[in-house]
Amino acid sequence: MKDKHLDAPLHVRGESLYVDDVAPPVGMLHAAIATSPVAHGRLLSVDTADAEAMAGVVAAVRANDVPGDNEIGPVIQDEPLLAESLVDFMGQPVVLIVAESAAIARAAAKTVVIEVEELEPVTDPRVAFERGSVIGTPRVFASGDVEAAWDACDIVVSGRSDVGGQEHLYLETQRARALPGEEGRMVIFSSTQSPYAVQRAAAGILGVPAHLVEVDVKRLGGGFGGKEDQATAWGCLAALAAHVVGRPVELVLDRVDDLRMTGKRHPYSADWKLGARRDGTLVAWDVRHYQNSGASCDLSLAVLERTLFHAANAYRIPNVRAFGAACRTNLPPNTAFRGFGGPQGMFAIECAIAKLAETLGMSREDLQRKNLIAEGDTLHYGQVTERCNAQRTWDECATRNEFSALRAEAERFNRANTDKKRGLAMMPVCFGIAFTGTFLNQASALVHAYTDGSVSVSTGGVEMGQGLTTKLAAIAARHFGISPGRVRVETTNTTRIANMSPTAASAGTDLNGGATMLAIDRIKAGLFDFLARELGVDPGSLTLDGDAVYADGADTGWDWPKLVSAAYMNRIALSAHAFYATPGLHFDKTKEHGNPFAYHVFGTAILGVTVDGLRGTYEIDTARIVHDLGRPVNELVDLGQIEGALGQGLGWMTMEDLRYDPDTGRLLSNALSTYKAPDLFATPRDLQVTLLDAENPVGPFGSKAVGEPPLMYGIGVYFALRDAVRGFVSDRELRFDAPMTPERVLMDLYADDSGVLDSGRRAAE
Ligand code: MTE
Ligand code: HPA
Ligand code: MOS
Repeated sequence: MKDKHLDAPLHVRGESLYVDDVAPPVGMLHAAIATSPVAHGRLLSVDTADAEAMAGVVAAVRANDVPGDNEIGPVIQDEPLLAESLVDFMGQPVVLIVAESAAIARAAAKTVVIEVEELEPVTDPRVAFERGSVIGTPRVFASGDVEAAWDACDIVVSGRSDVGGQEHLYLETQRARALPGEEGRMVIFSSTQSPYAVQRAAAGILGVPAHLVEVDVKRLGGGFGGKEDQATAWGCLAALAAHVVGRPVELVLDRVDDLRMTGKRHPYSADWKLGARRDGTLVAWDVRHYQNSGASCDLSLAVLERTLFHAANAYRIPNVRAFGAACRTNLPPNTAFRGFGGPQGMFAIECAIAKLAETLGMSREDLQRKNLIAEGDTLHYGQVTERCNAQRTWDECATRNEFSALRAEAERFNRANTDKKRGLAMMPVCFGIAFTGTFLNQASALVHAYTDGSVSVSTGGVEMGQGLTTKLAAIAARHFGISPGRVRVETTNTTRIANMSPTAASAGTDLNGGATMLAIDRIKAGLFDFLARELGVDPGSLTLDGDAVYADGADTGWDWPKLVSAAYMNRIALSAHAFYATPGLHFDKTKEHGNPFAYHVFGTAILGVTVDGLRGTYEIDTARIVHDLGRPVNELVDLGQIEGALGQGLGWMTMEDLRYDPDTGRLLSNALSTYKAPDLFATPRDLQVTLLDAENPVGPFGSKAVGEPPLMYGIGVYFALRDAVRGFVSDRELRFDAPMTPERVLMDLYADDSGVLDSGRRAAE
């Protein structure tokens, strides 16, 4: 199917409703937050007198106003909603000001005087690690015997790579609205990927059972992982304020506050060693990942785990040792971001492969191709690959796009030009689909058919722009056998669906689609039993297709509306709830081995760039992708996902330069003037996506998850840029440090080891 995203007409007309677009309830107040002025310190005093004296201010809420438990950490209880005695990052919420308008609340929040005894902040994960400031315990995923394997290697390269964080930059900043009701009830409208996380945390904050808190989500103006866990605080703060003042309260972060107060993609630093035989066959991979986790655990341990799962990307390496530590620093807690640690894991192995190729004098692509995983290979965490399309997508990508011709053309260009050089790279991706926490791979759906033949579908899945609603409606219509226009997908609401996992891990369609199909099976079974009795046929002979009912393929004269209304008159259930759990998943954390993923998504990209050696600037000329979507439920929506994810990956690797002051922990790239994100003009002019002809028996109608994997094609651009830089300086030792901003290109071209620029240097070489 190639239908448009169901929200597209609403979006372009500006009719889509977000949390604060809904008409405010009578008496609604607004909240704003006063935050920690330092990255690490002890609270000495908090003076809210001036704020409270301002006209229009209704309340100043502090940690001691929390009726329940002032804790919202999703995995480890290390995250106070409002700071009590210690502050651990700049921008940490300390006081909530509630006022008649958002403007008054913000102005009042600025007058709050927070006195702190400053403690030394740590911003570098390696420093944190040395000081033992580690969250949880470091993990090691291993296969074979790395130590014994070095002897079998003809060549061993080692190095260090650093990769930056990334701001989510969802268009809709964090926000929530809370409405107190009778008997302690609280309804929260939240921009969250995880309604149940908000419900659970808010119930804990309010000290009430979960059933008193209802969370409702219509849609998000983007989440990208930034609202998987980090929407929870704002929902809880709005609920806390509403509880204290007994009136509805809305909390909306403005862009500057959102940038400085929320966590981002985790920066990582890694040390590694890669060993191979002379012919390029990989033998051993040893990597140590230091994750900059920020001030509290958040989802860092799950992100770290996914890094270790993707430590070898799509390569067959018999001996692997992947170590990872979540290092606690005084930055805002870093969190989920599209790829969820996978990209950082892949970046390190791709760096090592680049270095090995250079050392062996082999092309990077030959080395990559030679070592791609194949059907039946056992990955370093014990899962055996099935329907492995790593080599297929690579070969199809290289052949279809005539990679060798592209390479020859780039070489010709580079011989003819002195100030500009072209660079190319190929980037394979193998990404595991399922939450790595096995228990999260569950979902429910509630489906109603009304007597007029219209259908309502509720699931725990959240629409954040990715097209989940569009795909669920298509799945429901197709599985029923009715026309798509009959199906409506409802808001995500904790009273209709309980205990939902976040919409994340790219698994939204698989999980919620799976549950929806099971619920539809139940309704159809009841309807067909009924109709079989009416017609005197076997229920197994009945089918629905395009609203018409067939018996053994022959038209019965019954259509869908007639069937549901007759069933209703005969007291047959027209509603069903169903539960889905992804089959076949298990993982033994004591051995770090098992079958964590339902399947893998494969693909390969070619990236091509042109670098200006005088300015350090560059163009991304080409991105050509062969991607495995299985049989997509909605090809148009999924192509949008591939292009959007690629854009985010390219931004992460090139221009999105997230900077904190290392001494104070202050965010330096704190506005869109200092944090550059890609726009349409940064998109490669030559962008071609080809879908692999493949089948996925595990996904709805043979489809595969799409949301995250294509982001990692963006990693290829780093190596294309490095390839182009090599065209200028072939012998120079180059660092592995992403993003490759134009500034960094200039450093690579002209700076000496101490970072001093020398304009004569390149000419001399
Ligand atoms: N696409 C849009 N437009 N907006 C988003 O916030 N989030 C991404 C991806 N695509 C996102 C998006 C992330 S991080 C994930 S995990 C998936 O969508 C989640 O949705 P899915 O599981 O339904 O694919
Ligand atoms: N991916 C995304 N989000 C998650 C995961 C995961 O594997 N585990 C917990 N939250
Ligand atoms: Mo996506 S990072 O799993 O929300």
